[in-house]
Amino acid sequence: MLDKSTIHQAVRQRYGALAEQVPVIQSTAAGCCGDSPGEGDCGCGADLYDASLLEGLPVDVTGLSLGCGDPVTIAALRPGETVLDLGSGGGIDCFLAARQVGETGYVIGVDMTPAMLAKANASKARMGVANVEFREGQIEALPVDDSTIDVVMSNCVINLSPDKPAVFREIFRVLKPGGRVSISDIVTEGAFSDDLRADMLRWSECVSGAIDASDYTAMLRDAGFEDIHIVDKVDTDDIVPPQPGMPRIFSARITATKPA
Ligand SMILES: C[S@@+](CC[C@H](N)C(=O)[O-])C[C@H]1O[C@@H](n2cnc3c(N)ncnc32)[C@H](O)[C@@H]1O
Repeated sequence: MLDKSTIHQAVRQRYGALAEQVPVIQSTAAGCCGDSPGEGDCGCGADLYDASLLEGLPVDVTGLSLGCGDPVTIAALRPGETVLDLGSGGGIDCFLAARQVGETGYVIGVDMTPAMLAKANASKARMGVANVEFREGQIEALPVDDSTIDVVMSNCVINLSPDKPAVFREIFRVLKPGGRVSISDIVTEGAFSDDLRADMLRWSECVSGAIDASDYTAMLRDAGFEDIHIVDKVDTDDIVPPQPGMPRIFSARITATKPA
């Protein structure tokens, strides 16, 4: 198993390069997964969202959509809520959430890749959005105060983390009592071989860092969450063809609550 900083470095390198290529992403539909031989993208992209939600968003935002679901709609946000997006990338979910929480609400996006933060901040300035803030940081040590967040969302990011229990502990710490979690992520049924776990390209493509859904649930429970659900699993077999040492891979939505 590779050490945490090696994984962070590989992930930062991949998403830093993607952030610099927004027009390329637009024209090829490359996503979070799928540069490896024999693979396409994992269905990531702006077509994950109802088209009406995307109206008015610039191409630098929709063209840098690298998620695997729509955690904003799942979250059923209310005006005035404070929302945190883990691994905010080009900012698509933050900008969508900002519209829903309104001017009395606030959205914080955290990402560790400077080029992604630069894109997101440039889009924020161009759009004149006041209730979104992007912070540089790692999701394993969030730059966010305790018990200040109503909803934590994340889109195709936690699978990339080398320390998922730390991520879930951090989510629990920053949520207010009764706060909720709305995540879209890649999960598996079964485990990857050690060789695939050590494959940094596959890891950074949102493939081999993914964990079994029951382990995901156990980690959330260990962090203190209740009412945990992993549902709507979408099979990615046709996109990431099964190979020896590869478990079944799904895009799923994950919800949970911090006890009140
Ligand atoms: C697959 S992209 C998803 C971006 C965005 N959520 C979206 O839906 O378009 C993953 C993003 O998470 C960020 N990321 C990955 N691991 C991270 C970590 N450990 N801490 C902070 N950011 C991370 C990457 O820099 C990248 O911007």
